[in-house]
Amino acid sequence: MKLIWITDIHLNFINFYELDNFCNKIIPLHPEAVLIGGDIGEAQDITNLLLTLEQKLACPIYFVLGNHDYYHGSICDVRDQIQKITENSQYLQYLSNTGIVELTSTTCLLGHDSWADGRYGDYFNSEVMLNDYVLIKELSNLDKQTRLINLKKLGDEAANFFREQLSQALLNFQHVLILTHVPPFIESCWHEGNLSNDDFLPHFCCKAAGEVFIELMRKRPNQNLTILCGHTHSSGMCQILPNIFAKTGGAVYGRPHIQDSIILKE
Ligand SMILES: [Fe+2]
Ligand SMILES: [Fe+2]
Repeated sequence: MKLIWITDIHLNFINFYELDNFCNKIIPLHPEAVLIGGDIGEAQDITNLLLTLEQKLACPIYFVLGNHDYYHGSICDVRDQIQKITENSQYLQYLSNTGIVELTSTTCLLGHDSWADGRYGDYFNSEVMLNDYVLIKELSNLDKQTRLINLKKLGDEAANFFREQLSQALLNFQHVLILTHVPPFIESCWHEGNLSNDDFLPHFCCKAAGEVFIELMRKRPNQNLTILCGHTHSSGMCQILPNIFAKTGGAVYGRPHIQDSIILKE
């Protein structure tokens, strides 16, 4: 089975001609499914972009959303819109709603947006001010302390999802592939070619999700977890445990590209 993984494609930065060109790089590879790790567009264009991708790629598209997908909108409203379009769609699958997807007899796919939960690095002294804290309704106009409470809630939501779904998936599959937007480990927070510092880590890493992965996979040393993430726009890989491998996708605004072609054997 062949999967194409793309992430942080930020299609709102390109025109229709460039979008066509990008899709025309994927189509000849004949993937059985395309995985999109979030930051596809922004709140006002995310549904149209997904429907356009569906029409052009004409194959199953498993996706999660990134922080940018909620810009100029609210997390709640965007997720409602996504629920509506995916209900009537042949190919679009929002993994937070879909749950476990069997890919082969030994590998399944799971996914959730995740959110940087402010728990790593030095949140209170960090001067990094993501647009998230201005352009996303649930995170804007808040003092730093209240914003942290909301970031932790979003991180915990992802962690709870993964705890339940991954526990279930490991009962039936040897290998679980996770698609998520935010890196779950410090070691996967690549930024401009290096690991992120204490200023950026609070905004780049979902500690709660990472802890769930480590806890569950320690109990299952003979099974494997592969995590595909993005968000930091700098590519890298890390091996967290002998059975946890994480890959972070690189990105440049206005120049979407294919991260990887993944072949799964039965
Ligand atoms: Fe991004
Ligand atoms: Fe992002």
